[in-house]
Amino acid sequence: MDALECLFTRRTALALVGPEPTAEQLDVILRAAAAAPDHRHLHPWRFVIVRGEQRKRLGEALRLAAAVRDPHLAPDVLERAAAKATRAPMVLAVIASPRESNTTPRWEQLASAAAATQNICLAAHAQGLGVGWKSTHLGDSAEVQRAFAMSAGEELLALIEIGHAAPEIKPKPRTALDLSAVVSEFGGDALTPYSPPNGNGKSAGHTG
Ligand SMILES: Cc1cc2nc3c(=O)[nH]c(=O)nc-3n(C[C@H](O)[C@H](O)[C@H](O)COP(=O)(O)O)c2cc1C
Repeated sequence: MDALECLFTRRTALALVGPEPTAEQLDVILRAAAAAPDHRHLHPWRFVIVRGEQRKRLGEALRLAAAVRDPHLAPDVLERAAAKATRAPMVLAVIASPRESNTTPRWEQLASAAAATQNICLAAHAQGLGVGWKSTHLGDSAEVQRAFAMSAGEELLALIEIGHAAPEIKPKPRTALDLSAVVSEFGGDALTPYSPPNGNGKSAGHTG
């Protein structure tokens, strides 16, 4: 698979089954993450591998965090919170870890962590794995911060689910996007709409 095919065919896997990635596949994924663009080489990210029985412990931290945040949540809602850790054979937590810097603002460091997250997704897909970028609103809770040994200023950016995409559950085809809605030509005084070379205005990456 070449780079563009990888980029255009990556989809969020709706259901993931085992086995978890091999040690070699995981190592490629982690090296891809660490190859993210990183202004001034601050390494403003770290990654935590959650697998096997340990997923249940993370699930319990998520369940507790949800219950502490809202003591009135129904049991099935708490169950869904916990399941974020156990639905996939492996979860890779992406923690943005911005460094003190007078020159590289925090937002740039968060952007680097997001780039690392996308590299994880693409490296998993390139190796034939299924992957899904998931987030949680519980990243700032004491239970989750303790589980990931997070310090002040760190952000739980993503819980990336990795495994093998269940073949019977396919994502819906993407809706074609008119690129001229989001791309302009800079004209100095005014922006003009982008006009693609194929004339139909649709992004090839957003079809199929
Ligand atoms: C910051 C971020 C957070 C996301 N969180 C979730 C999530 O919690 N649950 C989920 O199902 N998908 C989540 N997604 C995945 C998007 O829903 C998904 O990328 C989108 O539906 C497009 O589908 P595709 O990945 O197949 O192109 C997240 C994506 C991003 C960039």
